Amino acid sequence: MAQQKVLLTRRWPEAVEARLGEVFDLTVNRADKPLDGDQLRTALADYDAVLPTVTDRFSPQVFDVPKTRAKILGNYGVGFSHIDLGAATASGITVTNTPDVLSECTADIAMTLMLMAARRAGEGERELRRGKWAGWRPTHMVGKKVSGATLGIVGFGRIGQAMARRAHFGFGMKIVVVNVPAVAPEVLAEYDARQVDTLDELLPQCDFVSLHCPGGAENHHLMNARRLGLMKPDAFLINTARGEVVDQQALAQALWFGTIGGAGLDVFEGEPIIPYELLGSDNLVMLPHLGSATRETREAMGFRVLDNLVDFFEGRDPRDRVN
Ligand code: DGY
Repeated sequence: MAQQKVLLTRRWPEAVEARLGEVFDLTVNRADKPLDGDQLRTALADYDAVLPTVTDRFSPQVFDVPKTRAKILGNYGVGFSHIDLGAATASGITVTNTPDVLSECTADIAMTLMLMAARRAGEGERELRRGKWAGWRPTHMVGKKVSGATLGIVGFGRIGQAMARRAHFGFGMKIVVVNVPAVAPEVLAEYDARQVDTLDELLPQCDFVSLHCPGGAENHHLMNARRLGLMKPDAFLINTARGEVVDQQALAQALWFGTIGGAGLDVFEGEPIIPYELLGSDNLVMLPHLGSATRETREAMGFRVLDNLVDFFEGRDPRDRVN
């Protein structure tokens, strides 16, 4: 294969960088800082393939390049709402992602957040570190029971189902799902799950609500003030999907006024900046977008991108093409 010029916009796991370097003429953004719009435009003009991450914003303006060399964006991640697919397609650029390989680890982080938030683990740890623990007492840091509770899953794709598996078989939770389109009856039956028609119908029934839907315009602020108001007053919201799915100001208010029990967030709108209003909420557990952050998964994601690139440049349709 002729050596195509390939750009990694961030540093990747060493084993994957090494393999990519054997196959392609590889450049790595060793500064490991997000590239701005102008740098991304230059990348599209100079490289045959650009391999971005969630921190690279491919807006329609970025694709407005006089002469585009790039033929493929091999996104390092399953979510691609940071890439304007319409503009990529109009520029003749194929976009791929990395499904499957990160589903289990992302569901692990959703479970972590659910357990931590319900059992006040972050709050408890902060108390200890501050030297404020006054010892065991019956009324101290009483949380909410997870086992046997009802979990609402918004988006029943690969990650939503990995979450259902943990919650149902590990914790005996009852599963209610909302998804577009309808989920096959045999898939629901696997988790003894019920599908409801609308999110509005799901929210009042659940003790925990976990978001596993795509980001982007279609789900922007899906969890707004009105919908947060439909949740039970002691229910918890978990988000490992995309920050923009939740209206953060509305969530901060709900947490502050106690109209919901608490929340766990791994993703934020405008990350890495966290709104000041959220930082003060004790009934909120926050993680810095760790869903896929295990060594095994990050390597698997990289090799999945590599497979897509090799297929593409050898004239086959890449298995993870999204446009
Ligand atoms: C994903 O795979 O979508 C992760 O959130 C990182 O982008």
